[in-house]
Amino acid sequence: MSPKSASAPRPSDGRGRLLAVSDLHVGIADNKPVADRLRPTSDADWLIVAGDVAEQAEEVERALETLAGRFAHVVWTPGNHELWTLDKDPVRLRGQERYEHLVRVCRELGVTTPEDPYPRWQGEGEDGPVAIAPVFLLYDYTFRAPGTSTKEESLARAHEAGVVCTDEFLLHPDPHPSRDAWCRARVALTERRLAAHDPEVPLVIAGHWPLVREPTSVMWYPEFAQWCGTELTADWHRRFNVAAVVYGHLHIPRTTWYDGVRFEEVSIGYPREWRKRGHPRGLLRQILPYDGTREAPAVTEDAS
Ligand SMILES: [Fe+2]
Ligand SMILES: [Fe+2]
Repeated sequence: MSPKSASAPRPSDGRGRLLAVSDLHVGIADNKPVADRLRPTSDADWLIVAGDVAEQAEEVERALETLAGRFAHVVWTPGNHELWTLDKDPVRLRGQERYEHLVRVCRELGVTTPEDPYPRWQGEGEDGPVAIAPVFLLYDYTFRAPGTSTKEESLARAHEAGVVCTDEFLLHPDPHPSRDAWCRARVALTERRLAAHDPEVPLVIAGHWPLVREPTSVMWYPEFAQWCGTELTADWHRRFNVAAVVYGHLHIPRTTWYDGVRFEEVSIGYPREWRKRGHPRGLLRQILPYDGTREAPAVTEDAS
């Protein structure tokens, strides 16, 4: 374990950057050297890690320990892969117990989780301060496959197309009756926390799955969208005072805007993906200070 304490992070001092990454997938050998290149630009940089670090608990811990040793502070939220229970993993925990185990691991490392108070990142002018809200929300099959109107129809369509997320076999929802029930419980408690947050302090919401459906529209297999989020969060970027939304999971790194709010997909992805496209936005995305143009975003989409 790292010598860092599990106490609240030191407030950032306004010098560093707020960076983000997701989908390191360090359980894949060729991704390990990529993850090893994740370095801060100064000793004051903070890092958001938005899920899919690895599958086995020990690998997740080692990767977060390394990052916590490099960055001034690390904020983590789980992806679906952390929540898989693989036969080869000595940590046999499933579902919520597995998540709670990872939260304990993070706290020992001094890493902020969705169960902790939202840490305050300093910054100046339009760039802060902000509160970073790591959120763990899952999905509830409401991003349905085209032409379907129920979860059952949508899942059946995915099976017909041969596009079925491995979560169906490895991400156990225990003790919840289903993954969508677990999602609804997470959405309810997260919504209460966001509603209780001081509206004067903008939020950077960071989760593994996108808050809105629109980013899934460019996926190769539309049937996969049902494992990518929930319609229950469709208006959160409008309802709450949100400076930016960070997500991953899609393995389509880009920046899009919905209703004037910046969404950053920050994934590294699988070797077959980054070998083809490279890392066009670099390995780490700078969330704040925002270094793009506010007036004419490269891509504008309205989530209505
Ligand atoms: Fe991933
Ligand atoms: Fe994922």
